Amino acid sequence: MDMFVVRGGRPLKGRVRVSGAKNAALPIMAASLMADGPITLHDVPDLVDVQTLSQLLGTLGVATDRQADDSLRLEVFDDSPVVADYELVRRMRASICVLGPLLARRGRATVSLPGGCNIGDRPIDLHLKGLKALGADIRIERGYVIASAKRLRGGRVFLGGSFGSTVTGTCNVMAAAALADGVTTIESAACEPEVADYGRLLNAMGARIEGLGTPFLRIEGVKSLSGAEHHVIPDRIEAATLLIAGAITHGDVVVENVCTAHLSAVLDKLNDVGVGIEIAEDAGSDRSTLHVLPVDRLTPTECSALPYPGLPTDVQAQFMALLSRADGISVVTDKVFPDRFMHVAELVRLGASIHREGQSAIISGTNRLHGACVMASDLRASAALVLAAMAADGESVIRRIYHLDRGYEQLEKRLNSLGADIRRVEDCSENVPASLSLTQPVSSAGSLTTDECSDPAMKLDEGRQLRFDEAETLSLPQSPAKSKANHDPMR
Ligand code: UD1
Repeated sequence: MDMFVVRGGRPLKGRVRVSGAKNAALPIMAASLMADGPITLHDVPDLVDVQTLSQLLGTLGVATDRQADDSLRLEVFDDSPVVADYELVRRMRASICVLGPLLARRGRATVSLPGGCNIGDRPIDLHLKGLKALGADIRIERGYVIASAKRLRGGRVFLGGSFGSTVTGTCNVMAAAALADGVTTIESAACEPEVADYGRLLNAMGARIEGLGTPFLRIEGVKSLSGAEHHVIPDRIEAATLLIAGAITHGDVVVENVCTAHLSAVLDKLNDVGVGIEIAEDAGSDRSTLHVLPVDRLTPTECSALPYPGLPTDVQAQFMALLSRADGISVVTDKVFPDRFMHVAELVRLGASIHREGQSAIISGTNRLHGACVMASDLRASAALVLAAMAADGESVIRRIYHLDRGYEQLEKRLNSLGADIRRVEDCSENVPASLSLTQPVSSAGSLTTDECSDPAMKLDEGRQLRFDEAETLSLPQSPAKSKANHDPMR
């Protein structure tokens, strides 16, 4: 297993290009199950999740080949398999995207329930409700969804839930409706750009879907779907991560291949916190090049992760890392995944002062993050830790970066090309930098020193080394009032 060793404190500078969107590419790849001909996809990122789905599609009779021009070609060679096995599905929740296409094209699907996840409870009741409304017979047995339908028929489906609509659920129901008899209307459909991109691919295959990008979809079923060629949209989450990387390191970064229309909420919030961004539209396309200008001071803010077009939940952790360096107290709430706060305790280890209150986190900004050993809990949490570690003084170790590899293509190489210092090494104690060893005085690890701590209860004799329990105490989350008092003298 690999880990990152990050040497922080370097402002990023240079140009970087955003890859194709993982969350668009995955359901789009699954749609190949319905095609009576090859599907050629451009801008599919080379990620572990893409490889996992290729493997799963292989077991379902679809051959996936990366071509010399970097496009991905998918073609059905056997349309009889209908079982998506637990061993593959449990590795990636997006595997559930094969459910709708299998049911629509092969009349049957047995797909493992994806199971639990570190970002919270992730039911698929809305997917099943939508497919049932189109006439599918569905039961759950021994951890598998077993769905069948002699012929799906169009119907009226409402896909709203307590936390908004469902992204992959909308894709599954759209797929089923595309090959159903008659007309389907989906109300409260997810409006995420990735869902609209999925619909555009289906239309290129011969589907008749209207209303893409809105909560009201009208789908007229067709008898069959053909092969097609499609360009996947740029990844708005990766774009946001790179913009924040520029801002958090007080860098000067140019990010290319961005659809600004997909990033309105992120750009608005970055503007709120004082990040200056110059936007240059690329002639003759819907893409832009964004220039993050060096930031003097980050202003605190309040923000909520919401369904699109709101601030994406997939950017919440990265935004929190940024706000941990703002000049005051910020509040971040997640209304899509209210328990998505596993990164809080790890950001605290890096010197952030964050206190969780229900579905919100209260962040008391500090201008001194410090290197530490941290553990990634999920994909976007890993990105937040990389961002915070790049902004911290001293060296950090980030473990379990396999989460990051699921969704970012060569992130460390691209950040290094901008001047970051991130090394991918084997996860073993010999590779942990000496500066993070507890036998070193804490000051040399870039952590809080006696001089930097205004709370008399936390003062240590000058030069004395910390014991393990003391070091842990210094990393504990504190109430905003207390942590502000601790950090104010530093500001
Ligand atoms: C997709 C994204 C994921 C992103 C999420 C929210 C992909 C591959 N993944 O995940 O990165 O974080 O959208 O933008 O595109 N819910 C239900 N019942 C359901 C389905 C969902 O209650 O049947 C709830 C979920 O628990 C969550 C909310 O609805 O609170 C949104 O989930 P959903 O949009 O389905 O997320 P995914 O499609 O799994």
